[in-house]
Amino acid sequence: MNNWKHNHILDLSTFSLEDYNTVLELTTRFKDVHTSSSRKLPALQGRLIINLFFEPSTRTRTSFELAAKRLSADVQNFSVSASSLSKGETPLDTILTYISMGADILVLRHESTNVPAELANYIDINNINTSILNAGDGFHSHPSQGLLDLFTLATFFNPNEPSTNSLLNKKITIVGDILHSRVARSNLWALTACGADVTLCGPPSLLPDEFIDFVLNPPPGQKFDPINSRGSVFVKRSLKDALKNSDAVMTLRLQKERMKQNMLTDLDSYYAQYGITHESLKWCEKKVPVLHPGPVNRGIEISSQLVEDNSINLIGKQVENGIPTRMALLYLLGLNKNNQ
Ligand code: CP
Repeated sequence: MNNWKHNHILDLSTFSLEDYNTVLELTTRFKDVHTSSSRKLPALQGRLIINLFFEPSTRTRTSFELAAKRLSADVQNFSVSASSLSKGETPLDTILTYISMGADILVLRHESTNVPAELANYIDINNINTSILNAGDGFHSHPSQGLLDLFTLATFFNPNEPSTNSLLNKKITIVGDILHSRVARSNLWALTACGADVTLCGPPSLLPDEFIDFVLNPPPGQKFDPINSRGSVFVKRSLKDALKNSDAVMTLRLQKERMKQNMLTDLDSYYAQYGITHESLKWCEKKVPVLHPGPVNRGIEISSQLVEDNSINLIGKQVENGIPTRMALLYLLGLNKNNQ
């Protein structure tokens, strides 16, 4: 943990194997805090955490709030509709207002890609003692979701000691609207870092061929990839081919709010081709877990029956694991501050 170097958490492309294992170990440790007698740890007592969500959220915002409270931090939630944005204040001035109030960590969700990175840059240049934790920016990155998905899969494959090794050589299939999905991008960085092979599946309008090269180079502005050897990425158009030999399947919501125009003319045909159902899962040739980051659109990317079948889906586990995963991230950023 002393080796934790990140003052902000913006994107998983910068994570080393040690970073992933630090998060997995801490998440394992924090998983049972809510069943302890005090239900809280004093780790972040006196720290101020602000949830700044410029886009709607149910899971991420609430679980960051619960995570902060379980670590005894003070936590404030920003609401767009009740804020001075309607009086013409800019998002940057809103954020600077919270920094002036002494925010230690800003948990930030924004519809525009790179807003968290630009703010982190501003903070670093001006020597401000606040950390940015990206809670989802455009279709770029959703690191806490990628990490809670990683923890959920690592725990499924290795319940006693989840680690990056738990994913080695596993075959994970991600189905649906990859193009507009920050969740898919964060999972691609995390899963391939652990040596899993990822098969992406969807129609060309939602999954361009170029995704096959997604993890081959670090993103623009990043000097090197901290992972020496990543798992492979494949692109498949046929769900039957994509599911064959899979060890786990993740399906994604159609991100209509991010589509420039309606990119699918017929949702029934999409469901027939790419919907995850008890029937389509037979193509896996064994029983495999199904993940979905939520929110779910029943009957579009996944059947209603599957959403309610807890013997197969890990959707509830993902939500449950979101709290200790986010406790781990807040703890690491808070710990970093204590060392300054
Ligand atoms: N998975 C996810 O980010 O859900 P919310 O939009 O509800 O936070």
